[in-house]
Amino acid sequence: MTHVPTMNVDDIDLSDMAFWALPWSERERAFAVLRAERPLAYFPEPDLSTSSALAPPPGRGYRAVTRHADVVEVSRHPELYCSSKGAISIIDLPEEMVEFFAGMISTDNPRHARLRRIVSAAFSPRRINAIECGIEEVAGRLIDRVATLGGCDFVTELAAPLSLEIICDMMGLPPSEHATVFRCSNIIASSGDHEYLEPGDDPLEAMLSAGYELVDLLTKLSAFRKDHPTDDLTTALISTNIDGEALTPAELASFFILLLTAGNETTRNSISHGLLALTEFPDQRAIWQADPTTVAATGVDEIVRWASPVNWMRRTVTEDTVLSGEELHAGDKVLLFYGSANRDESVFADPYTFDVLRHPNPHVGFGAAGPHFCLGAHLARREVDVMLRELLVRLPDIEASGEPEQAVSRFVNGIKHLQCRFTPTAPRSSA
Ligand code: HEM
Repeated sequence: MTHVPTMNVDDIDLSDMAFWALPWSERERAFAVLRAERPLAYFPEPDLSTSSALAPPPGRGYRAVTRHADVVEVSRHPELYCSSKGAISIIDLPEEMVEFFAGMISTDNPRHARLRRIVSAAFSPRRINAIECGIEEVAGRLIDRVATLGGCDFVTELAAPLSLEIICDMMGLPPSEHATVFRCSNIIASSGDHEYLEPGDDPLEAMLSAGYELVDLLTKLSAFRKDHPTDDLTTALISTNIDGEALTPAELASFFILLLTAGNETTRNSISHGLLALTEFPDQRAIWQADPTTVAATGVDEIVRWASPVNWMRRTVTEDTVLSGEELHAGDKVLLFYGSANRDESVFADPYTFDVLRHPNPHVGFGAAGPHFCLGAHLARREVDVMLRELLVRLPDIEASGEPEQAVSRFVNGIKHLQCRFTPTAPRSSA
């Protein structure tokens, strides 16, 4: 990545899908220019109504918040920058979709505090510990499956099934349903990427029907768990009652969708970007491999900074205010570009260097401090840590061996496919 911004700021259009198909280095160059020259740039909204009958006509556009300090400022002031008006997508979601996709992440206080209280009680340390024990088991099993092959698609064989299985196990979904969950969460999180759509599909309709499919699955599961309680998160969520408060069936459904989409794509992409970075920076890999336990304490967060798996979240201005000297008006939409904030040269020394010992590392990959800070951050860190540790021990010379295939998505910084190679080894069972 060239550190000198050489792009014309007027040529940058974050609403154009073509921007999100550019190589990462080009995108990073554009964000460097925005941070330097137009840190709260205005962009018209993409016109999604040309590809979807469900999409409303474009609204009045948005400001792209690209500097770290501004992302932090907006995140910590939900009274000025709210999440509930039209949800956290660029477009205000059509009514039909709000029910499914406007879960906790698209609410404000007092509703958000109430939902987060109930859900956090179900995410008890005991339950998270139990899930964490499962990560090693799942990672070990996935590695066994490919160990003799000497190579595979890292995303589809290792990174994706790990995060998917963890979330599904956590909720108590049987393995027979994992493929459905994988397909639906891909459609929802990467809407617009044709790999996940049938030819001629309306992207928003496809998202909606994927949402219906997941709700149907989870409604059946929670009905079953009412009579057959067990130790899974579904049982905890349907039985959690804090001071007389419990989730309504609609809240339960949208929380499930949020977990499946928020916890699946993001962790998968962190692990895939992690392998890619360790391949591109062999010196950093040597440091990690020499002392995985110690280095993971800083290395995992560096992977999340490096990957920045969520491109942005939206907030809506609640009253006229000023951000970084610029006037914003009630109703303005602001998009917090986490990847840009995570390369902000005024906060990170050598931001384009992958440094597994980086400390401090005030990245905002999980969001900045504020009420919506990622609920699954601890779990995600553990998944990345355990998977890399298992890989570097079991397949010590594993490396990316082909060009990564980027997901074309405005929302998710995804890798769809990444070939890897390693010296074939026997699976543990026959070792
Ligand atoms: C590396 C992996 C992950 C990344 C990069 C990530 C990133 C994020 C980001 C950027 C937000 C929004 C923060 C904001 O608006 O201020 C968020 C929220 C959230 N994440 Fe994650 N996430 C990850 C993994 C997970 C996992 C594993 C789960 C669940 C098991 C999860 C559940 C959630 C939930 C429920 C919210 C909404 C919290 C709220 O609105 O109060 N995430 N995450």
